[in-house]
Amino acid sequence: MEPDAIDPSRPAPARIYDYFLGGKDNFESDRAVAEQLIALDPEVVRAVRENRRFLGAAVRHLVREEGVRQFLDIGAGLPTQDNVHQVAHRDAPDARVVYVDNDPMVLTHGRALLDGGNTTIVQADLRDAAGILDHPEVQKLIDFTEPVAILLVAVLHFIRDEEDPASLVATLRDALPPGGFLVLTHGTADGVDGKLKAATEAYRPASSQLSLRSRDEVEPFFGDLELLAPGLTWIQDWWPPTPITSTEQKGLYAAVARKNP
Ligand SMILES: C[S@@+](CC[C@H](N)C(=O)[O-])C[C@H]1O[C@@H](n2cnc3c(N)ncnc32)[C@H](O)[C@@H]1O
Repeated sequence: MEPDAIDPSRPAPARIYDYFLGGKDNFESDRAVAEQLIALDPEVVRAVRENRRFLGAAVRHLVREEGVRQFLDIGAGLPTQDNVHQVAHRDAPDARVVYVDNDPMVLTHGRALLDGGNTTIVQADLRDAAGILDHPEVQKLIDFTEPVAILLVAVLHFIRDEEDPASLVATLRDALPPGGFLVLTHGTADGVDGKLKAATEAYRPASSQLSLRSRDEVEPFFGDLELLAPGLTWIQDWWPPTPITSTEQKGLYAAVARKNP
């Protein structure tokens, strides 16, 4: 499928995130939102970097310690350093990765980065979780009878309550075989006095709105999966924790969970 047209005038989460990470794949409209968020809380940049660190650490852990060789990365984002397939292939060149994103620019840039074979990228929407699982490219590369990790890293907070994120995640959890994993991070306004709530306003003109959720709202996304140590934590505390001097940094929850037989 050919990607839809890219609209530089409408801020897009993938490009805003790219700006936070110091990338060049963003437009003036994206930078305006990102700068608004940085003005609200400069710690947002560190939280985003911590999110990438967590993503790499989780994938490495799953490859090295749990023997996972298949990854379905939903809300993959624009290519940057240490993308999932690059991290996985360092230890397991045979690992298979399907990237999924609904942003046409992610598809265009992602295709340029991929070298075919056991990694691919598809344009699809998390709001149609069943459609992702049935997608021919997903079916071709991912064997859902073997251990697979489904990644929802910094994407679920772009799904509004009325779009029923709980049932979307349940559909994905149900597709996991025993020994499969869910990797999830989620933005929150917990622990900050109103600052991050204003962030939702900054996203108003963007192609996806921001729905920050409390810990009590994030935890049920794991259903009856078993949380790996250290559990559902602040992003910087997920093993191995990053030594943070400031106690202020919050912003995202993170966890990796296993489906047991
Ligand atoms: C903040 S970025 C996260 C990128 C990457 N997962 C990471 O954590 O480094 C969020 C990504 O989710 C994508 N996204 C947002 N809503 C989506 C949806 N409904 N379906 C698929 N992708 C979506 C955006 O286009 C963007 O690339």
